[in-house]
Amino acid sequence: MGCAPKWRNWQTRRTQNPVGETPCGFKSHLRHSWGLQDSRCVAKRLGILTGGGDCPGLNAVIRAVARRSLDRGSEVIAVREGWRGLVDAKFEPLGPREISGILPRGGTIIGTSRTNPYKIEGGVDQVLANFKEQRLDALVAIGGEDTLGVAARLHAEHDFPVVGVPKTIDNDLSATDYTFGFDTAVFICTQAIDRLHTTAESHNRVMVVEVMGRHTGWIAVMSGIAGGADVILIPEQPVTVERACAELERRHERGKDFSIVVVSEGYELTYESGERRQVAQELRPDEFGHVRLGGVGHALAADIEERTGYETRVTVLGHVQRGGSPTPRDRILATRYGLKAADLVHEGKFGRMAALHGDAIVDVSLGEATKELKTVPPEWYETAKAFFG
Ligand code: F6P
Repeated sequence: MGCAPKWRNWQTRRTQNPVGETPCGFKSHLRHSWGLQDSRCVAKRLGILTGGGDCPGLNAVIRAVARRSLDRGSEVIAVREGWRGLVDAKFEPLGPREISGILPRGGTIIGTSRTNPYKIEGGVDQVLANFKEQRLDALVAIGGEDTLGVAARLHAEHDFPVVGVPKTIDNDLSATDYTFGFDTAVFICTQAIDRLHTTAESHNRVMVVEVMGRHTGWIAVMSGIAGGADVILIPEQPVTVERACAELERRHERGKDFSIVVVSEGYELTYESGERRQVAQELRPDEFGHVRLGGVGHALAADIEERTGYETRVTVLGHVQRGGSPTPRDRILATRYGLKAADLVHEGKFGRMAALHGDAIVDVSLGEATKELKTVPPEWYETAKAFFG
């Protein structure tokens, strides 16, 4: 059904609906500003933000949301640098020229940050006030558990008209089978493991590969299976360092004197004594309560070398996993998510998130998507374990 803009430009609209004409609540501001009866015409001026760590496919989502919304006659506004853009009023128009050619580009053309308005004094009020001041009718928030957690809370507490898109290389968001960006990260890690195989074999070495994923082991398990890792250590499975060394020794006994160990940055070094140790680069938590993980690969390599006597080297893949062009699979998933998000806005279905269930794009509640982390099920680890040692 068509939904022609009631007012062609911003100035005209302003005259017809003066700001502050009605002292009303946040939700009623939206209704008054458009005089809407039909929820399907709800977003004539749509904001879009990307929050949290960047991730391949963000630009593909931005392009899809913008294309579909512009085709419907909406204006699309980039909210710069995640929630910071709404706190500090950083906005830019997003038109056909801005979204042209961005499908294969990594990163995000509208910037990102880990700003949490709930951790800034008056931050939420500023978000609401700037949203209103910009005459935005809806927001598409593209992010992971942190960014979408803020979206879920704003919706629950203020009826904020927001729709979510699940982004993260970590694949740890509930209520969706896959987040976009994950496939690219797994592809990059798998390529690295393939390359490390040839040098490991040449030198009879153990190669420890540290991958991202925060408190879940999705990247480690999937790239480890794809790359043929000999041991994989993830946060969900408290496999001991002694056990890992025993697997490497078993492999050597079978005549294989090189090995690949994939370790997830969130794996806690676990020992048969019962000791467990989390390795982090920065213990001070960020605005969302996360410590900056990283470094477990070096600690593990030292342990392996000491316990087995095998020469061991470490590769920390780091932010390479998040950089560059998305895989075709991520481009397609991101595009489908973007179109769904634009449709949810058009239908006035706020507080929802686009999600992948099987092969279908569906919508789920933001609350459901952010209530807990999606961890790696034991069955996946069993698949990986079949090739250990
Ligand atoms: O959530 C994505 C992620 O890449 C994690 O895997 C990693 O722990 C974290 O972000 C790194 O964050 P930053 O880019 O702030 O160093």
